[in-house]
Amino acid sequence: MLSESSKAVVIATLPVVRAHGEEITGRFYPRMFAAHPELLNLFNRGNQATGQQKAALAASVVAYAEHLTGAGGPAWDAILDRIAHKHASLGITPDQYTVVGRHLMAAIGEVLGAAVTPEVAAAWDEVYWLMACELIAREARLYTTADVAGGGAIWRDWRVTGVVSEATDVISLTLVPADGGPVPGFVPGQYVSVAVDLDGGLGQQIRQYSLSGRPGADHWRITVKRVRGVGGAPDGLVSTVLHERTAPGDTLRLSPPFGEVSAVAGDGPLLLVSAGIGLTPAMSALEHLAATAPERPVVLVHADRDGSAHAHRHELPRLHARLPNLRLKLWYEQTTDGDDPAALTAEVASGRVDPELIPLSPDAHVHLCGPLPFMNEVRGGLLRRGVPVERIAYEVFGPGMLRGGV
Ligand SMILES: Cc1cc2nc3c(=O)[nH]c(=O)nc-3n(C[C@H](O)[C@H](O)[C@H](O)COP(=O)(O)OP(=O)(O)OC[C@H]3O[C@@H](n4cnc5c(N)ncnc54)[C@H](O)[C@@H]3O)c2cc1C
Ligand code: HEM
Repeated sequence: MLSESSKAVVIATLPVVRAHGEEITGRFYPRMFAAHPELLNLFNRGNQATGQQKAALAASVVAYAEHLTGAGGPAWDAILDRIAHKHASLGITPDQYTVVGRHLMAAIGEVLGAAVTPEVAAAWDEVYWLMACELIAREARLYTTADVAGGGAIWRDWRVTGVVSEATDVISLTLVPADGGPVPGFVPGQYVSVAVDLDGGLGQQIRQYSLSGRPGADHWRITVKRVRGVGGAPDGLVSTVLHERTAPGDTLRLSPPFGEVSAVAGDGPLLLVSAGIGLTPAMSALEHLAATAPERPVVLVHADRDGSAHAHRHELPRLHARLPNLRLKLWYEQTTDGDDPAALTAEVASGRVDPELIPLSPDAHVHLCGPLPFMNEVRGGLLRRGVPVERIAYEVFGPGMLRGGV
């Protein structure tokens, strides 16, 4: 709870802080990285360069202030959970909150100048620490559940046992713990962080990859799409290393599995909707159900550019044989003679997914994963068709949330 005195100050200053959000963020990161260059290894350089992530931290503090002052807004439990899982997968530690808080408050002071009286500074500091404490507590619980001693202890070496080409520009990697220890379990939909050292002494970068194999198997599998730079932008840092420089026998640093979104929620009908590389949680869900609940009614709707871009598609007939109540519906922007519905055991349509034509049980739990515009469109269509909002879970393969989130 925000103290009454701070509440009044935060209400009075919210409009000016919100209006200068971008400027505050613009000052915050450079001053924090200048004082703590080691944090460059923690943050995503691509997101920093494109500005995608930059706004997320300050914007979420402002949105949290609105929440604390009673202005309503989104469902905070879900948002805090999402951030905490992401932070845990990066090994964020409580002491780093002091660093972020100091530089965020200093950036607010630099931008708003004399408007930041000691009372104003104290009120926003209170907002920051209320949010920080919520996150620190959630992250501590996640570390305990993952059986690690804290953020500093998340990294473990894994040995690559296989590299398989799955489609154009998509490979999967199979991995086992390098120390021969047990393979931790996970829920389909969860992801691991992968930390790679960049060439030329450029430090480390961390990215998340959803586990695409079966929980309980004696190995993990991730499926990675190579990100190529378009229009002069550089190629993706980590996906390029994984594609070009990773071979069986190599070692990778991986986090435990984290992620608050289950791809197998409920125990009734399940609708999995994916596009492009967003199919990785769905593949894990199908493998899991084939092993544990083969009778469960499942629809997989998958959209891709064409059959050659569709990773894991050769696995679908095998899964279909093990899941008698599975219905597969594929939408390819371009179909070819090779897209034989009988061989694929799937319905195959040309063009983009039409949400009106998605097979839908009234009581289905839905899991979406793909580019944000795709998910917004599909979710909008499913909501119009009467699916309750709380039954639609979604995963974003980058920073950000769907319309209506922070
Ligand atoms: C929860 C979660 C699960 C995920 N699961 C998967 C998965 O299963 N499979 C998968 O393949 N991916 C997955 N991802 C995405 C993955 O984490 C990476 O984001 C992806 O591999 C790209 O990382 P990269 O380092 O190759 O690219 P980055 O280096 O991060 O580059 C990303 C983009 O930014 C652009 N960019 C970089 N620098 C600049 C610049 N200076 N100017 C302009 N543009 C620039 C690049 O051109 C590129 O388009 C997941 C992400 C999340 C958050
Ligand atoms: C109250 C304090 C904080 C808030 C409100 C906050 C908020 C956020 C949000 C909203 C995201 C994006 C989540 C997503 O959608 O994927 C995020 C990601 C991230 N946060 Fe925090 N955060 C806080 C503290 C910290 C601290 C202390 C650190 C460590 C120095 C940190 C490091 C990161 C990193 C590295 C990411 C991933 C972003 C990327 O790599 O581009 N955060 N945070």
